[in-house]
Amino acid sequence: MQNSEQKPLSNFVSNLIRKKNPDEFLEQSASGGLKKTLNAFDLIILGISAIIGAGIFVMIGSAVIGTAERVGAGPALVISIFLVAVACIFPALCYAEFASMIPVSGSAYIYTFATMGELPAWMMGWVLMLEYAIGTIAVASSWTGYLVKFFQGFPILPECIKNPPEWLINDYQTAASAGANIPHLFGIPLCFNLPAMFIITVIALILLKGIQESANFAKIMVFVKVTIIALFILVGAFYIKPENWTPFAPTGIKGILMGAFAIFYAYIGFDAISTAAEETKNPQKNLPIGLIGSLVICSLFYCLVTIVLTGMMPMSQIDLKAPIATAMSFVGQDWFAGAIAIGALAGLTSVLLVLQYGTTRILYAMARDGFLPPIMKKIHPKYNTPWVITILSTVLILIGSLFINMQVAAELAIFGTFTSFVIVCAGILILRKTEPDRPRPFKVPCCPWFPIIGIIFCSGLMFVALREVKTSAMLFPLWIILGIIIYFLYGYQSNRKQESLKFEKTEEVLATKIEEKI
Ligand code: ALA
Repeated sequence: MQNSEQKPLSNFVSNLIRKKNPDEFLEQSASGGLKKTLNAFDLIILGISAIIGAGIFVMIGSAVIGTAERVGAGPALVISIFLVAVACIFPALCYAEFASMIPVSGSAYIYTFATMGELPAWMMGWVLMLEYAIGTIAVASSWTGYLVKFFQGFPILPECIKNPPEWLINDYQTAASAGANIPHLFGIPLCFNLPAMFIITVIALILLKGIQESANFAKIMVFVKVTIIALFILVGAFYIKPENWTPFAPTGIKGILMGAFAIFYAYIGFDAISTAAEETKNPQKNLPIGLIGSLVICSLFYCLVTIVLTGMMPMSQIDLKAPIATAMSFVGQDWFAGAIAIGALAGLTSVLLVLQYGTTRILYAMARDGFLPPIMKKIHPKYNTPWVITILSTVLILIGSLFINMQVAAELAIFGTFTSFVIVCAGILILRKTEPDRPRPFKVPCCPWFPIIGIIFCSGLMFVALREVKTSAMLFPLWIILGIIIYFLYGYQSNRKQESLKFEKTEEVLATKIEEKI
């Protein structure tokens, strides 16, 4: 009696932690329809596309001077950036080992499935949606801000374009809390971020057309933003006054840690490179180069921008909304402020491209594993892209943009990223134990220490963040609970059906072979 009761329970538990052999993913991807077109250079571009964006163009200001809720790092932000870069290097090395070993679409989701099992894998995919899909909302909202700034540079434009009504450029919550006059239609408030919705839709259309076209588009955007940032560093260097660097760390260690938390947003997205593994030529070599290369290049840019920005003007005068553009106006280079708006728009557009790309590829991998309805794994016959997922995820992101404000979306994206980094580092430790002999074209050096340091760094920063941000610290667990509910309502059942179908097929094949022998 006890046995029969225990069996369903142990079956249930073993289903939850059912792992998928990495070879299964490789087989699946070999039969998939995605083209292998990306090289190391494309991946570095993809990385820079994802990394340089709202973080350096907008959030660097609050990271230096702080906000009402937290202190800033001052010129010592350069140390915060170094800390975050170090915190990211360890998970990046772990991503490189995983991605070179299992070069398939799906990133951390796949790695979790191979190391921890079905439920953790679903939860990882679900948490990654915070980083990618919800992160898209944060960046698209910043895009609106810079678009308006750009329009304001043209005095001849009509007033309604230079200063659009609040209900046309904000989510409902932001507009309502700012006391905006929101019109109603049949009792429903008319309030949406029109430019954000526009750019999200345009990028979805580009992604529908194909990854090679998207990579070409990203190259142009990266070129524009990198040129603008390099010019800022070169021109700004002539206006540095060393006395602006004193005091160097006005708020001490606390400020440096808070600065690290704030600037972490600027690093979100480099892991998106691993989502392109399945479309990468020679992934064993190109993925580690793409991941580490883009991280190092972006960190260098961030350090130089911080040194120049904090040297150009007294800390108290750094702007919160457009710090880099304002610094140029401060030294009398007004023409440059407009150019920076263009660079920021390009930067944000390329970040959106990578985030939306990552959203579709992770969901595609999850659909392929039976976590989502089969229609979602359809590949377009002409463009070879997962078109159903692309359209559906875009519609959901557009709906989300109506309700979620930029700050909360950014914080949720940070939580999603921290969680995925910690789990990927842990996954490396597990797989080294469970499959020590699996060929690893790239290996994390100094294992287990590097993954362990990655876990300590990232969970430490997450702990700091949890104490700082109230709304998202509450929404994050709710998102996790919603994920668990969806898994048990759909994913769990659907995976069991898929397993029994596989079993029936194997039985059929065996029966045919036996019949043939007889
Ligand atoms: N790292 C990206 C940005 O700064 C998300 O916009």
